Amino acid sequence: MAKLTRIAILTGGGDAPGMNAVIRAVAKKAILEYGAEVIGIEDGYEGLIKGQCRKLGYDDVSGILTLGGTILGTSNTSNPYRYPVKRRNRLEFKDMSTTTIKNISKLNIDGLICIGGDGTLSTASRLSRQGVPIVGIPKTIDNDLRGTDISFGFDSAVYIATEGIDRIHTTAQSHHRVMIVEVMGRSAGWIALHSGIAGGGDIILIPEIPYDPGSVVSRVRKRNEQGRRFSIVVVAEGARPKDGDIAVQRIVKESPDPIRLGGIGFVLGAQIETMMEVETRTVVMGHLQRGGSPTPFDRVLATRLGTQAVDMVQNKRFGYMVGVKGDSLIKVPLEEVAKGPRTVPLNHPLIQAARAVGTCFGD
Ligand code: F6P
Repeated sequence: MAKLTRIAILTGGGDAPGMNAVIRAVAKKAILEYGAEVIGIEDGYEGLIKGQCRKLGYDDVSGILTLGGTILGTSNTSNPYRYPVKRRNRLEFKDMSTTTIKNISKLNIDGLICIGGDGTLSTASRLSRQGVPIVGIPKTIDNDLRGTDISFGFDSAVYIATEGIDRIHTTAQSHHRVMIVEVMGRSAGWIALHSGIAGGGDIILIPEIPYDPGSVVSRVRKRNEQGRRFSIVVVAEGARPKDGDIAVQRIVKESPDPIRLGGIGFVLGAQIETMMEVETRTVVMGHLQRGGSPTPFDRVLATRLGTQAVDMVQNKRFGYMVGVKGDSLIKVPLEEVAKGPRTVPLNHPLIQAARAVGTCFGD
């Protein structure tokens, strides 16, 4: 089989710690092992639509392993099949897929590596069906991608959220307060579940288990009766009360997934304070969870995923994402990834383990 000569790479969607580590892994392997040329597409699909890209040499990717963000830039609004354009102050959507595919073929590449979450990889799946030679790499702090046990970025987000919860403990204790820590995750509770367990949250609220405010308050009361005059609640941004709604922070009309969640921590705080006399404060971890240097785990995972993706291009295994199953890397059809988010199953062993140590899920 002929050796690959030219490969392109893009980073799409919300950034996640480890994106640069993947870019480095892809570029170094392609250059060192295959002597290939590497093209970096700028700002995700935006760069393909507008034909903006640059050559990535060895020196460009040297020293970026530990760097947060992405040296290529990213976008979570530029979908080639539904590209937002403002006309006379009105937002319209244009199909730019023909231009995108033309621009890709002008690059004369053996394959395109798309690093992204479900939005980026769903688009990759469509482009792949139209003949673009694509390999996907799972990126998201939310860990909600189908077909893989884990995506890079998740471990770093859990680490940052856990550190936040650890720090909240001391101030909660000093002031005898209920402290609510709201974490990201969209409609999946993975970050809340992992950081809640790691940070010793007394109550963990996830989107998969709608909560009863009464049950949250009973747990806080019970702890008070036992002499524990503070409580820590870890709430996922996508959580909602049993007879209420999710909290929407903003609508990003240009985005293929326009709803931005946020604020459920404040809703819950108000619910607790109307039901019992206790001072409550809410802290939103927000984009801190996506910033800064990736954890060692994410650096290792990023390196494994990036180097494997290059081999998949060399072997012409297109239309797949590199997934993780246990200790192994597997091929997952992009169509499978595009089927929608992977939420926490109600019988997940981590829910059972948390319940076993007395954690309340608000049900
Ligand atoms: O998907 C990653 C994520 O950080 C979600 O957890 C969060 O809901 C969303 O992106 C925030 O998006 P934005 O960066 O557009 O505010």
